[in-house]
Amino acid sequence: MSLRSAAWFAAEGKTGIMHRSWLRSEGLPDDSFEGRPVIGIANSWSELTPCNVHLRELAEHVKRGVWQAGGVPFEFPTTSAGEPLVRPSAMLLRNLISMDLEETLRANPLDGVVLLAGCDKTTPAYLMGAASVDLPTVLLTGGPMLNGKYRGTDIGSGTSVWRLTEQYRAGEIGAAELAEAEGCMARSRGHCMTMGTASTMAVLGEVLGMQLPGGADLPADDARRRTLAHLAGRRIVAMVAEQLTMSRVVTRASFENAIRVNAALGGSTNAVVHLLAIAGRLGVSLTLDDFDALAADLPTLVDLMPSGRFLMEDFCYAGGAGALVAELGERLDRAARTVTGRTLGENYAAAQCHDREVIRTFDDPVKPPGSHIAVLRGSLAPAGAVIKQSAAAPELMRHRGRARVWDRVEDYLAEADRPDCDIAADDVIVVRNAGPRGYPGMPEIGNVALPKRLLEQGVRDMVRISDARMSGTSYGTVVLHVAPEAAAGGPLALVRDGDVVVLDVPARRLDLEVDDAELARRRAEWRAEPAPGTDRGYLRLFVEHVTGAEVGADFDFLRGRSGADVPRQAF
Ligand code: FES
Ligand code: MG
Repeated sequence: MSLRSAAWFAAEGKTGIMHRSWLRSEGLPDDSFEGRPVIGIANSWSELTPCNVHLRELAEHVKRGVWQAGGVPFEFPTTSAGEPLVRPSAMLLRNLISMDLEETLRANPLDGVVLLAGCDKTTPAYLMGAASVDLPTVLLTGGPMLNGKYRGTDIGSGTSVWRLTEQYRAGEIGAAELAEAEGCMARSRGHCMTMGTASTMAVLGEVLGMQLPGGADLPADDARRRTLAHLAGRRIVAMVAEQLTMSRVVTRASFENAIRVNAALGGSTNAVVHLLAIAGRLGVSLTLDDFDALAADLPTLVDLMPSGRFLMEDFCYAGGAGALVAELGERLDRAARTVTGRTLGENYAAAQCHDREVIRTFDDPVKPPGSHIAVLRGSLAPAGAVIKQSAAAPELMRHRGRARVWDRVEDYLAEADRPDCDIAADDVIVVRNAGPRGYPGMPEIGNVALPKRLLEQGVRDMVRISDARMSGTSYGTVVLHVAPEAAAGGPLALVRDGDVVVLDVPARRLDLEVDDAELARRRAEWRAEPAPGTDRGYLRLFVEHVTGAEVGADFDFLRGRSGADVPRQAF
């Protein structure tokens, strides 16, 4: 077997000495450089990314496995981004993280890589970057937090934040109760334990074939996750020998499986942008419409918040991703490859469900078939928009209302807080300039809070439309990812207060009832206004190169892959 790392460590003379001698400072024995697979452990650990804060400890267990299998591990950091802190949105850094990883992998003497990720953007960013290099690659997510526990009830990260703050705004609970709940939510290490984006991407990473079985759902603090890290270290060394690269594992069949599993999970709408971006790196053809068409016959089977009742710890004990794959049976392509070297079907041949409340059967689903992500098109979203039907109010699925339009989400929120706010319950709230280019960074603001006055009257849902995303832990009748985005001159930019907007989810339509001549007149008046701060630096690169949500919001120049060829070295 000829190792990529041999170009560094087996080089003759001065070159080889250069590559080896500095590593002696790390205490490596001579035979570390004699043909052992060199394994990178990419670590998105950061104290600013609380969901990933235990990943250095997990890396130690990966290393044990690598050493044990005869490899040599090197852990390295990359840029990280945590949802709770990064402003304006961690999404702004997803593509940067992916570039950081890609260039680090290619520039260094690595034969394979284990990706340690967890919080929402770190998992897709790592899969994107690794796809563009295409080494043998294993993903290991950090695992969910234990269930939140508050006054005898389970509370979920994200979901309960939205719900409790709404109850607080409506005067149903007081400040002391809210503060107590805050302390009860994140009571262990790990990522959000609702079926938000982190859990969704962890499960889809496993279904794509990139994680070892169990990787998605074992709680962060469960000792079995440390064992799994050890096994991931062993397995990556074998994968180098097998030359089982990422593109040999992840194919169109894998993405189709992931889309179908996402529907059965009731998973995050953010999976749409992330899977499209990962597919774009691998050169696998995948479109926005696949997310509707491929999942139309699938019910939601997993009863997790925000669509349902339970949390990831319950999902794990019920059998986790394996039990769900087993339940889906022949509805998935069971011949799809995985990092184990076996097929998806083989990996989970013995999987069983241990709790039918959490993972339901097809005869008793949480939501009926076709109630997950709908892809809408129409005069307001010519390139598409998405809505998570299972998180929305059934009575709003067909709705015709007067548009109330805000160019800045802050202005809407200020209005929504006013006691004399004149927004009516059947109005359609339109918030724009929140797409990839417009904000920039496509933040999770699509599920804007309802006007306080209406909340106090008992209104709990309204139609909201934007070019933004929403948190995977959120809910509501929220039309997201409207494309083209307003900042790119999409029709969303032309809507005015009082226009009639028609949402018809069963017909997959989102239309603006304004005649073409009037729209043409408005278009002639419309001017693109660059978002503040985008004249230099990373933000400039971002707005100049970010693509639309309908193709994954990756940078145009990052689509595809450059491979793992060894860079030139002149000394
Ligand atoms: Fe990190 Fe939710 S905030 S996963
Ligand atoms: Mg999130």
